Amino acid sequence: MKIPLLIGFAGIAAALLAGQADSLLDGHTKALQGATSLEAGYTVQNLPGGPVEYTLKLAKPGKFRLETPDEIVVANGTTVWTFKKAANSYTEVPQEAGDIKKFLKRDTVLPWTAFFDKTPFKDATGIKVGTARVIKGKAVTEVTVTLPGKPDRTATIFIDKELGIARGLSLLTGTDKQTIIMAKELSVAKDSTKDADFEFSAPANAKKVDPTVASGAGFDKVAAIFQTNCGGCHNATRPRSGLDLTSYAGAMAGGRGGKDIIAGNPDGSPIIAYMKGNGKPVMPPNGALSDSDIAVVADWIKAGANEK
Ligand code: HEC
Repeated sequence: MKIPLLIGFAGIAAALLAGQADSLLDGHTKALQGATSLEAGYTVQNLPGGPVEYTLKLAKPGKFRLETPDEIVVANGTTVWTFKKAANSYTEVPQEAGDIKKFLKRDTVLPWTAFFDKTPFKDATGIKVGTARVIKGKAVTEVTVTLPGKPDRTATIFIDKELGIARGLSLLTGTDKQTIIMAKELSVAKDSTKDADFEFSAPANAKKVDPTVASGAGFDKVAAIFQTNCGGCHNATRPRSGLDLTSYAGAMAGGRGGKDIIAGNPDGSPIIAYMKGNGKPVMPPNGALSDSDIAVVADWIKAGANEK
């Protein structure tokens, strides 16, 4: 008689925990939906690499500003500016309805997409609550969700006890690619937006470039070269040296040795040196690529290593 009873309790406990996870996620989404602005100073760490600094500002309606080590992207509701630090150049294009959606696809803003997206977890499965812990002096409760994709991604979201919103998350892509995002400063407001934060002023000597030139060939063009010559070893299922060249995100994330593509700087990008045979390991290991293929990859990196 004891055994069925235990199963009964376990079932009830599991249901309670699932309910708690849903209500934590709901609270997070409601708090961000109810806010008019958000500011986060955070680090993004692609393991085993070290943390790099990001700053994110969001305001309704439709304003965002993200600064990463490589770029600054600013949208004020009518215009989007993208400044590439290495190239010291920027583009300026009219903001379109879909731009926010595109912006929210970046894994590096994943903890806070609920600011613009009413149903950020609608496709998530396996939602469950984890342990309560203290990370860098902040009390958080973990909620784990599986996000559909190829491969699936599992996010362990750290919900801040005091703010009720995510302070960060740990994202596992496939079985071995892990990214940790953690805010040091995080605040939301209900009444204020600082419009000046969403205006772009070009740094000294920065060149304004035509977006069609700046974007050059998108990842599509180099994807075919990578797929044919590298995809057998650098894929999502079993990425040699941790490097997956079959997706834009994988290529940009780099591998065990760190970043292999430095946007705007082909000469400083290890991937080019390896393909040219100027650096070790020579890639692909069985022989050099044609000069024209290497040039296509180098041009793409020079133009900013853009996804589109
Ligand atoms: C036959 C399998 C194979 C093929 C094909 C291959 N690689 Fe590699 N690649 C490896 C292995 C194994 C390593 C790790 C080598 C080492 O640590 O010395 C590696 C390492 C790398 C690294 C360093 C990753 C890091 O950050 O740790 C880069 C960059 C790279 N390869 C790029 C390429 C490119 C670009 C191509 C295609 C043009 C390619 N590879 C094709 C097997 C391969």
